[in-house]
Amino acid sequence: MPLSTVSDVRAREILDCRGWPTVQVDIYVDGQLQGRADVPAGRSTGLHEACVLTDGDPKRYRGLGVRNAVANVEGPIREAIVGLDVTEQRKIDSELIKLDGTPNKGNLGANAILGASLAIARAGAATANLPLYRYLNPFGHVLPVPLMNFLNGGKLTANELEIQEFILMPIGAESYGHALQITTEINEELRELVVAKYGILATNTGDEGGFATPMKGIWEPLEFLQKAAERAGYKIGFGEDIVFGLDCASSHWHDKDAGLYTLDGVSYERDALIDLYKQVAAKFPLGSVEDPLDEEDFDGFAALTQELPQTQIVGDDLFVTNVERLRIGVEHKAANAMLFKVNQIGSLSEAFDAAEFAYRHGYGVQVSERSGETEDALISDLVVALNGGQIKTGMPVRGERTAKHNRLLQIEEELGSTAIFAGHHFRQPR
Ligand code: PGA
Ligand code: ZN
Repeated sequence: MPLSTVSDVRAREILDCRGWPTVQVDIYVDGQLQGRADVPAGRSTGLHEACVLTDGDPKRYRGLGVRNAVANVEGPIREAIVGLDVTEQRKIDSELIKLDGTPNKGNLGANAILGASLAIARAGAATANLPLYRYLNPFGHVLPVPLMNFLNGGKLTANELEIQEFILMPIGAESYGHALQITTEINEELRELVVAKYGILATNTGDEGGFATPMKGIWEPLEFLQKAAERAGYKIGFGEDIVFGLDCASSHWHDKDAGLYTLDGVSYERDALIDLYKQVAAKFPLGSVEDPLDEEDFDGFAALTQELPQTQIVGDDLFVTNVERLRIGVEHKAANAMLFKVNQIGSLSEAFDAAEFAYRHGYGVQVSERSGETEDALISDLVVALNGGQIKTGMPVRGERTAKHNRLLQIEEELGSTAIFAGHHFRQPR
């Protein structure tokens, strides 16, 4: 038996940062634990994401238990991959996709399949005696610009902000470590500004570590961020230290029947909303906007992409890390970047396929957390392996978020002088 053959597969139900159950998978090679990975979970999910298999038993975790997914890992998945070579990632992933047999992994569960897929990658790296990012790509050397979600809204908090994430991007930093320093300095200024206007309770944080304040609409949060950045001594603008970003997650405040978007009590038709984004971009340098329009509106995305040439337009719920959705996007010229979330599609090989397809068509790739994360920092290795140049992994203030930031610091140190920080080139760092 070669030294990289799967000898056993184990799984268990663990908890994510919301306290909700998720799947952890262990891969054994020659009787030794060599790869472990946790599966993240979304709350603000897209309609077209792969299936998260939950037990539905109201007596356990209000139906959110994942014992069935765990049983699928230790049953049919184990049976399919014991004896296979851990370094044959693509072969293993395609075996699992075939075994499931459905387009959305609804049979075994994308949470079961992805857990195995990611743990296999870790086991492959361990048997090759390499860090994961280098195992996946020995040419990976780009440290990403972090999209820092200072103010949380939408489904990630209990406030009234419809827009989910108000972001600053430290594009002028010299390194990843410097980007973290800039972020924290601005965040402390922001904390003081928020306390002064809304009191101390408004500095409680949302799921991704940004303050969950009672602010409203689109302008006020941006003005707060601008003030905080300036007070911390940073210059705002393309070619400067900081640009803005948004994750609008607009499908969640779009009434599909009426065709209207309602923001702070005002309803907008698609063209009026595009006009509002143009006004925002005229006032604030907008580096990146995610899901500005409904997840089915490829034409609207195309129109906005044309209207805001300086701004990266990212599809999250629009593309769901799925090559087929991305293909439709490319045909429509809708957006120019893809959010990369491994659990939206449910295997590492398919997620890499989507990223490659994006690169081939000149689209950017932004690697992303889910709002439900664990301490597993696997996406930090992925963003470096992909030379993606940009990562969205929350504010550096909660353990499941700092795990990713701290892992990137380790990678930056390991790469030493061969590392480059994507900085102003975050959209096309390669
Ligand atoms: P989710 O939110 O992980 O709950 O989907 C993050 C996002 O929309 O980008
Ligand atoms: Zn999103």
